Amino acid sequence: MSANIALAETEEYTYTPEVAKRTAAVFDQVYPAISKEEWPDFAPYVDEILRLKKERNAVVLAHNYQTRDIYHCVSDIVGDSLALAQKAVDVEADVIVMAGVHFMAETTKLLNPSKTVLIPDPKAGCSLADSITGEDVRNLRKKYPGVPIVTYVNTSVEVKAESDICCTSGNAVKIVESLGVDRVLLIPDRFLAANVAAETNVEILTWQGECEVHERFTARQVTQLRKAHPNVTVLAHPECPPEVVEAADYSGSTAGMINFVSEQKPAEVALITECSMGDNIASENPDTNFIRSCNLCPHMQRINLMNICESLKTMTHEVTVDPALADRARLAVQRMLDAS
Ligand code: 13P
Ligand code: SF4
Repeated sequence: MSANIALAETEEYTYTPEVAKRTAAVFDQVYPAISKEEWPDFAPYVDEILRLKKERNAVVLAHNYQTRDIYHCVSDIVGDSLALAQKAVDVEADVIVMAGVHFMAETTKLLNPSKTVLIPDPKAGCSLADSITGEDVRNLRKKYPGVPIVTYVNTSVEVKAESDICCTSGNAVKIVESLGVDRVLLIPDRFLAANVAAETNVEILTWQGECEVHERFTARQVTQLRKAHPNVTVLAHPECPPEVVEAADYSGSTAGMINFVSEQKPAEVALITECSMGDNIASENPDTNFIRSCNLCPHMQRINLMNICESLKTMTHEVTVDPALADRARLAVQRMLDAS
């Protein structure tokens, strides 16, 4: 099981009897997701983050791909991209720390602009967000006049500003169909687009973007998995290639997968997605055996307890949005939330 840090025991962050006492109630809540052996490494940072959250009137929003220490010990809200956007709107705290990637922090700032939004590592990017620019979208609009542009939230503010409406993996089919047209551009993830196309009669045009984590999965891997584990239930994220989704028993967003496991209680499951997902939910689903067949997202893995702590201490790195783009980008996200 992964927690993405080798935590350094400095004088400042040592597991003293005082730290143990102050964090005992937290440990009771997070055990067995966090083991007794791990706790002395995490507790000094958890202790300081909880103190700083109070001092700064801050909350931590964490994506389902964050590691167990973040997901269970310091986050106030966890979820998929859609849930994080929906919940970001209602945050009343002054400061929001995004334990996730940069586009998620930007979306949070768009939806709750009066708050200070921090990202512990501004280099936490996304291969999908990097695959397309605002100019690319303007060119697509010229090439396909009148075709609505549905943009995955995994994009920059500039790209959102050029789009008609956003979507996430949790609502893409619904958003596409909500437009009431025969043809849409669904960008930039070509695999998400192909998987949506398989579920709708709307013609889907797309872009050549890919998620570097999900594009690596193959149908052969699923076949081998089933050979080795004949009773396994396979869940695949819709950013996977269509042949992987076809070979799976269910496909849905990270929240969709979590709900599937907690509701259907499969005896054995493989989550064809980022590795932290299974780690995060394993303890809540003790009757399910999680078969590890996953890839790590190097961007999500940039966030750790140490830099969350540092972020709250120094109030860095503040995420801002170009005011010239903010209103148009917000409209695209807001339309998605209204249609969800
Ligand atoms: P969801 O949480 O919306 O399924 O997205 C997965 C993802 O890749 C986020 O970076
Ligand atoms: Fe981007 Fe894929 Fe990482 Fe999600 S998992 S942040 S889509 S690279």
